[in-house]
Amino acid sequence: MRSSNYTALQPLADTEFNFFRQWLFQNSGITLNDSKKSLVSGRLSKRIAKLGLGSFSAYLKIIRSGDKEEAQVLLNILTTNETYFFREHKHFEFMQSVILPDLKQAGKVSVWSAAASTGEEAYTVALIMADAFGLHGPWSVTGTDINTEVLSIGQRAIYPIEASVKIPESYRKKYCLKGKGKDQGLFRICGELRKQVNFTQHNLMQPYAGTERFNLVFLRNVLIYFDLEEKKEILRHVMNSMTPGGWLLVGHSESITGYSERIKQYQPGCYRLIS
Ligand SMILES: C[S@@+](CC[C@H](N)C(=O)[O-])C[C@H]1O[C@@H](n2cnc3c(N)ncnc32)[C@H](O)[C@@H]1O
Repeated sequence: MRSSNYTALQPLADTEFNFFRQWLFQNSGITLNDSKKSLVSGRLSKRIAKLGLGSFSAYLKIIRSGDKEEAQVLLNILTTNETYFFREHKHFEFMQSVILPDLKQAGKVSVWSAAASTGEEAYTVALIMADAFGLHGPWSVTGTDINTEVLSIGQRAIYPIEASVKIPESYRKKYCLKGKGKDQGLFRICGELRKQVNFTQHNLMQPYAGTERFNLVFLRNVLIYFDLEEKKEILRHVMNSMTPGGWLLVGHSESITGYSERIKQYQPGCYRLIS
């Protein structure tokens, strides 16, 4: 039998799970219910093995000590980042047929992908903006997320070739570069499009620090991780960063109807800032 240095961890105790979920709530506003215990345990176990620690409590001590770098790693581990190009494509059809004609007179159009994850949403928007307003047109896309690891993937803009099947061929031909040689199996968003998109860290529980005001905000598939009070707080901050009459899109399974008198539903998942 082969020997191994791997020692199984003692199961994550309820008190430890409670520490990590309170920590996550304080640092991101995210609520984890009891059903997430095994998910948390699984994700932490990998990190603990990588650090060569022997227990959840040893890792907990590092976090409790206030280690800032490890705190960011923990945030990266505990957030869920699923995304893909043209996700919930009806939003993008709506953007082309209704929102962009409305914004034609806006001068510069600023779009915010407010829980950008690895950048597919921000680049999907950029592909559409480039076609509508030109590659060097007066528009920009800002992608923000609390997770620094996903942001660096967005900045690199290199994705597995399989991810490109969701991108319509006409866009793929114009704006995506197929990897060759050692980059076989990958593709990259072209440099000119990348220049129009920037990524920066932002916690939605805080006011947006930039001075830019957004004409269109994608706040999709993120509110599901928060309780009502936190959802409302996020919404307040987001609305304060929008232009009057600006558009706000949330995921198909999310609704913010009734959360604020400042927004009006235009159609399910799609809202406008009215004051
Ligand atoms: C499931 S992804 C959604 C990606 C994309 N918007 C989409 O619909 O495909 C949710 C993202 O929200 C981010 N997130 C969670 N809490 C956050 C917070 N407090 N501030 C900023 N981003 C947060 C996560 O890191 C994750 O990348």
